[in-house]
Amino acid sequence: MSQRKPWGGRFAEPTDPLVERYTSSLHLDRFLAEEDIRGSKAHAHMLARQGVLTADEAAAIVDGLARIEAEMASGAFPWREELEDVHMNIEARLIELVGDAGRKLHTGRSRNDQTVLATRMVTAKFVRQWREALVELIAVLCARAEEHRATLLPGYTHLQPAQPVSLAHHLLAYAQMFRRDVERIDDILPRIEVSPLGAAALAGTTYPLDPEGVAQELGVGRVFANSMDAVSDRDFLLETVFCGAMIMMHMSRICEEIILWANPQFGFVRLPDAYSTGSSIMPQKKNPDVAELMRGKTGRVYGSLVSLITLMKGLPLTYNRDLQEDKGPLLVTHVAVHDSVRILAGMMARLEFMPQAMAAALKRGYLNATELADYLVGRGVPFRDAHHQTGAVVAYAEGKGVALEALSLEEIQRFAPLAQEDVFAVLALEAAVARRITPGGTGPQAVAQQIDELRAWLASQGVDSALRQDEGRMV
Ligand code: ARG
Repeated sequence: MSQRKPWGGRFAEPTDPLVERYTSSLHLDRFLAEEDIRGSKAHAHMLARQGVLTADEAAAIVDGLARIEAEMASGAFPWREELEDVHMNIEARLIELVGDAGRKLHTGRSRNDQTVLATRMVTAKFVRQWREALVELIAVLCARAEEHRATLLPGYTHLQPAQPVSLAHHLLAYAQMFRRDVERIDDILPRIEVSPLGAAALAGTTYPLDPEGVAQELGVGRVFANSMDAVSDRDFLLETVFCGAMIMMHMSRICEEIILWANPQFGFVRLPDAYSTGSSIMPQKKNPDVAELMRGKTGRVYGSLVSLITLMKGLPLTYNRDLQEDKGPLLVTHVAVHDSVRILAGMMARLEFMPQAMAAALKRGYLNATELADYLVGRGVPFRDAHHQTGAVVAYAEGKGVALEALSLEEIQRFAPLAQEDVFAVLALEAAVARRITPGGTGPQAVAQQIDELRAWLASQGVDSALRQDEGRMV
C-alpha cells in the first residue's frame, strides 16, 4: 500500500495502486541515480556557498548522498516503487539517513530541473561512450583497409557489377560514414551539456542561487538561458537519438553487405565463428546472425526517434508529465548503439576476406567495359559511339560466355574497328583500378592518401591503427 508521498500534503486519500504503478518511472530512470546524486551534491555545495544552507547541513547532505551511493553499489539500497521515481527514492532515503538536513536539499530546486540535469549528464556520458567505440571501429576499418590495398573486388551500382575497386576503398567508405558520426557527436555535445539547475519548476526561484557555480562543479559547459525552456526542452535527446539512428543506419548497411558477402554465391568473406551461429537442423549452415540482428535493432532506434519526436509534438510549455516518457527511447537507443558499434568493430577485425572469390567475381560481369569505352574515346571515337560499340562487344562476349579479354582482337574490331592490340593492357582489371587517379577515387595512390589522412585523424584521437593490425585482435 502507498506510503506518504513527499508531495502528499494536500492529499487525503492514498493513490490507487494501479495508478501508482502507471505513474511510476522507476523502472526507466534508475539509471540516472549516479548523475542525480552528483547533481544533488553540487546543488548542496552551492546552497552552502550562497548561505542558503549552513556548511554543516550541506556536509550532512553530501555525506548522506555518499552513503546512498555505497548502498547502491552494494545492492542494499531500498528502492520503493511507491516513491515514483529515482529522484524521490534518493531524497526519501537521504531524509531517513540524515534527518532534517536532508529535508533542505530540495530548496530552490524542482524535480523538473533536477530530472533534466541528470538526463543531460547521462546522455553526455552515453554519447561519449559511442564516440569512443566509433573511433575504435574506424581504426579497425583503417587497419583492414591497409591490409587490403591491393585486393580488388567488384564495385556495384544497383547491386549489379559496375567497376572494379579496391577492398580498401570499399572499407574506407564506411570509415568516412563513421567519422561523420563522430563529428556529429562532437557537434551536439555542447548542446547536451547545459545545466538547467536554477530553473526550478519553470520560472526560476527566489533563492540567491548560483547556476554558474553548479555548472562549473559538474564540468558542464553552459547554463540555461530561459527557465521555461530549460525544464521543457528535450531537443538534446532528440539530437542524440537521431545520431544513434544514423549510426545504426550506417551499421545496418555494412551488415547487409557482410550478409551478402557471406552467402556462398558471393563467398567474399568468411564469418568468424565467434560472430556467427549454426542451424539446429541444417548442419552445413553458418549464419550471419550478428549482422542480421544489428540490421534488425536499427528498427528499435528509429522507433525511439519517432516516439520521442511524437512525444514532443504539440506539448505546451513547460513541464508536462508526458516528458517522463523521454527516458525509454534514450535507454533503448544507448543499449542498441553502444553494443552494436563495439560488436561490429570486433567482427570487422576478425572477418576473413577471400580475395580469390573476389577475383573470380571480377571475371564475371564485364567490369572492364567502361575501360574499353574510355580506350576507344582515346582513339578518337565520340563517347556515345564508343559506349554503343562497347555494348555490342559485351553482348557478343556474353553470347559466347567469355570475358572481354578472352576475345581476339579481330572479334573486338568487328564492333569497335579502331581497337588495336594495346586494348588488352587496358582491359586488365588492375590497370582499371590503377588509372583511377583522381583524389578520393579507388586508385592506389588516392587510397594511400585517404589512409594517411585517416591515420592522422586517428592519431589526433589517440589511436594508432597500424599497431592494431599487428595485434590481430583489435577490440
Ligand atoms: N519522474 C519525473 C520525470 O521524469 C520527474 C519530474 C516530475 N515532475 C513533476 N512535476 N511531476 O518527468
